[in-house]
Amino acid sequence: MQDHDNLKEQRTAEEAHLEGAERQASRPVLSGSFPPQWREGVYQAILRRRDVRRFRPDPVPHAVLARVLNAAHHAPSVGFMQPWNFTLIANRVTREKVQDLYERERIAAAQFFDEPRRSQYLSFKLAGILDAPLNLCITCDSTKAGPVVLGRNSVPETDVYSTCCAVQNLWLAARAEGLGVGWVSILKLPQLRAILGMPPHVVPVAYLCLGYPEEFLEQPELARAGWRARQPLADIIYYEVWGEHNHPDWPALDRLARVASFTKGASMKRIIDVTRRIQPLDEAAMRLARERHDQLTKPQGSLGRLEELAIKVAGITGLARPRLPNKAVVVLAADHGVAVEGVSAYPQAVTAQMVQNFLGGGAAINVLARRAGARVIVADLGVATDLPSHPELVGKKIRAGTRNLAEGPAMTMQEALAAITAGIEIVEVEIDRGLDLVGTGDMGIGNTTASSAIVAAITGRPVVEVTGRGTGIDDQGWQHKVAVIERALHVNRPDPADPLDVLVKVGGYEIAGLVGVILGAAAQRIPIIIDGFISGAAALVATELCPSVRDYLIAAHNSVEQGHRIMLAHMDLVPLLNLNLRLGEGTGAVLAMGLVDDAVAVLDEMTTFGEAGVSQKAEAQQDATSLHT
Ligand SMILES: Cc1cc2nc3c(=O)[nH]c(=O)nc-3n(C[C@H](O)[C@H](O)[C@H](O)COP(=O)(O)O)c2cc1C
Repeated sequence: MQDHDNLKEQRTAEEAHLEGAERQASRPVLSGSFPPQWREGVYQAILRRRDVRRFRPDPVPHAVLARVLNAAHHAPSVGFMQPWNFTLIANRVTREKVQDLYERERIAAAQFFDEPRRSQYLSFKLAGILDAPLNLCITCDSTKAGPVVLGRNSVPETDVYSTCCAVQNLWLAARAEGLGVGWVSILKLPQLRAILGMPPHVVPVAYLCLGYPEEFLEQPELARAGWRARQPLADIIYYEVWGEHNHPDWPALDRLARVASFTKGASMKRIIDVTRRIQPLDEAAMRLARERHDQLTKPQGSLGRLEELAIKVAGITGLARPRLPNKAVVVLAADHGVAVEGVSAYPQAVTAQMVQNFLGGGAAINVLARRAGARVIVADLGVATDLPSHPELVGKKIRAGTRNLAEGPAMTMQEALAAITAGIEIVEVEIDRGLDLVGTGDMGIGNTTASSAIVAAITGRPVVEVTGRGTGIDDQGWQHKVAVIERALHVNRPDPADPLDVLVKVGGYEIAGLVGVILGAAAQRIPIIIDGFISGAAALVATELCPSVRDYLIAAHNSVEQGHRIMLAHMDLVPLLNLNLRLGEGTGAVLAMGLVDDAVAVLDEMTTFGEAGVSQKAEAQQDATSLHT
């Protein structure tokens, strides 16, 4: 009775919710796309569903159970035959029999693997038959709709396929309810049928364990254990014919999916909103800027890349004659757990000491920023020690340093999203204060190690090619650093197609924060000058997440770090300066600010041939160089 009342209450709540959503969507939800919250919920259930093997003993409320079974029963089926039945098994004695069956099969299957995989296989927990309060067997009865079923004649297995759809419906609904499901297929079916009293023609398609999980892991347990990684989406999609990964009529769909798969954690919505606001360059403003440049009192194109730069800034800002009076460099600081591996020539304490130096105005970045007329914004994203409070220090500490990426993921997905969001917030505050041009900067002992790992993971280039000497380690130190990065990639297996996964596993909090700065600035049409290697790693992640952000980036300089050229080439960016810099802090970015300022000043301030009364090439019949000779 109580369950019945619960169900009634639930029904009313669902109806109210449906009506609310229909109002919100201002059209009937039965047709068209779902309102954003619903749609997001579906993706969340799909992305966060996990196979669960560790359960808490709490019982599953009957109302919840009824809802997930009803979801299963709404699966598609061939000829609408609904071949499934759901057998619920709470009885401990029955479950013990199934557990024995499973255990025998589990051991027997070990013979199929060679060492060391055999030992690893045997170490896995592959079922929670007794821990879970409830088991459920979803069966397929091929005879249910008679001998001839609409649509089943050519492929008789379609009834089993349909039953799998019911399993998946249940699995997703259970995830939405916070309920864990674990599929146990390590069972001999005749014995299972005998235990459950099933007739021989019925196929036990899925034996499932149901209950509240100890936790929902962020990724499949088998992936976390290094057994098998998720394949890149690009490898899965074929265009038009089997095996064809590229086709002129098709864009690379895997790239478009990145923002969609980017749906984890509390800050996710904010980040998606920001990426959605990033627009292509303003073609009209660029055309006007180009036309004006061609009218200025100089041979066309004679100011080379300064001309291209000014036109790009016009496209970014949407202004045909942009000016950039308000400049800032955002310097994010954080520590790296990998520092314990001895990958840097300096001790970790230097990160905090340098933050103090930035705040005191005595570091290289302060001097160069003063000369460039840029304000220096210093933020703590994850410095290992507590910094004394300072009016100019922006406190956004995610954690006191990342975890050692050579031993496991550097951070959690929540932390990565929080750091990206912090970066967005920092740049948005600066935009409110007035910002026309932003530079990126970093401070973090150990952060070239994280950056090299990011470049290797995303570009697929060997670690030796993308690893430099950071703060100045010797040959032996460099070899050790390469080995540490190789270990990090081996242990974590970052998914090259998922930039957030790469960031989580081998990134840093300041790098994640800079991803946010880049996205946040691009969303508000502000040109972004990318400093060196660390900022470049952030730019790489940002462009992989949201390819249109690339057009907003200006690469400041060519760093001494050898992976830098590779990352810039990957983003198709050509740096402005080549000064053998390897300091970071944003120093290269502020040096390049002068050039960007010069580029837009030329476009804005120079007179045209018409204004100056100077003859143009065509009229004067002279070649371009003669103007200056
Ligand atoms: C048909 C099928 C049978 C499975 N059998 C088992 C099993 O016997 N034991 C187990 O631990 N997991 C089993 N799984 C779960 C998979 O290992 C799991 O789905 C996969 O590793 C991906 O992880 P995720 O479900 O957490 O995303 C099975 C999954 C499917 C679809």
